[in-house]
Amino acid sequence: MHNLDQIVQAAVVAFAATDDADVLEQIKAGYLGRNGQITELLKGLAKLPPDERRTTGAAINHAKLSVEGALSARREAIRKMALDARLAEEALDVTLPGRGQRRAGLHPVTRTLERIESLFRSIGFAVADGPEIEADFQNFTALNTPEDHPARSMHDTFYLQDESGAVAKGVLLRTHTSPIQVRYMQAHVARHAALATMPEIRVIAPGRVYRVDSDATHSPMFHQVEGLWIGEDVSFADLKGVIADFLRRFFESDDLQVRFRPSFFPFTEPSAEIDMAFMSGTHKGRWLEIAGCGMVHPNVLRHVNIDPERYLGFAFGMGPDRLTMLRYGINDLRLFFDGDLRFLRQFV
Ligand code: FA5
Ligand code: MG
Repeated sequence: MHNLDQIVQAAVVAFAATDDADVLEQIKAGYLGRNGQITELLKGLAKLPPDERRTTGAAINHAKLSVEGALSARREAIRKMALDARLAEEALDVTLPGRGQRRAGLHPVTRTLERIESLFRSIGFAVADGPEIEADFQNFTALNTPEDHPARSMHDTFYLQDESGAVAKGVLLRTHTSPIQVRYMQAHVARHAALATMPEIRVIAPGRVYRVDSDATHSPMFHQVEGLWIGEDVSFADLKGVIADFLRRFFESDDLQVRFRPSFFPFTEPSAEIDMAFMSGTHKGRWLEIAGCGMVHPNVLRHVNIDPERYLGFAFGMGPDRLTMLRYGINDLRLFFDGDLRFLRQFV
């Protein structure tokens, strides 16, 4: 019996001496394995006389249970130690500052677009949009620019292919935001068809447009903001007033050099282009065209079932990329779209 106690004691000490789960299993084999000390004692039982066998057998089994108990306690302790060590190693300090923190910012043209929207909303304009892939009808025909009209040549664009690879007839990337005028008026007329008097239309429509253009003041993809005000009593003087007031508020200055230059658009009559002089930068004092505008042509109103004898109004299409150039004194608009972060970060 004394011998058994010593074996159990030795096992407990040996188990406690290691932190390593594999080593623990090797130590265990020395006691409980095929040739382990306890196993050997159990094998020896067969040689004992039957009455001794029972008491000795019970004692050995008791010792075996003690060793097994000590073993599983040690296994559990080692497992827990390993877990604690891993947790400590992988601990996260959520109070540390993050890596690679950089201030994000809006693109300068996005800032301009947001400014334009909020200024026009403040004087009662709605904001609409329309598809960039546009039908020939809305982009040209409904705007009094039938096929073979010479004005189409200034609006060469990107045409879409159908599944066979052929140019899809009548589907193109819009060359200006003016087709949104057509879509908006069509929807407005449909919505108010039951009324004796059509409510006024007062809307702007910002968006991307596409042309075969590329130089310091022309990009093949650029932005426009369309404006449209139709009512029973809207004049060219209102157009000038709205534009002048908008520009003063946009540039936060009363001291702007702006001119209306007579021009031609098939969808307005009379028509003008609006120029503004650079107030800063290397182009200071030079003129830059910022918009086209005019009184909506009666044929355009007819195309959308508005009676031109009763309603009239103005439209404009301005270039927010150009306004951004003027605002920051930038001499090449392609910088906005090159994606050079050194340039863009200056506006953050
Ligand atoms: C038009 O596109 C007319 N739809 C504007 C209009 C609307 C007239 C409603 C009358 C009534 P224009 O081609 O001039 O007009 O373009 C208008 C403005 O878009 C220009 O003044 C300029 O500011 C800008 N713009 C034109 N082409 C480019 C380009 N390639 N890159 C950047 N801005 C451009
Ligand atoms: Mg023009």
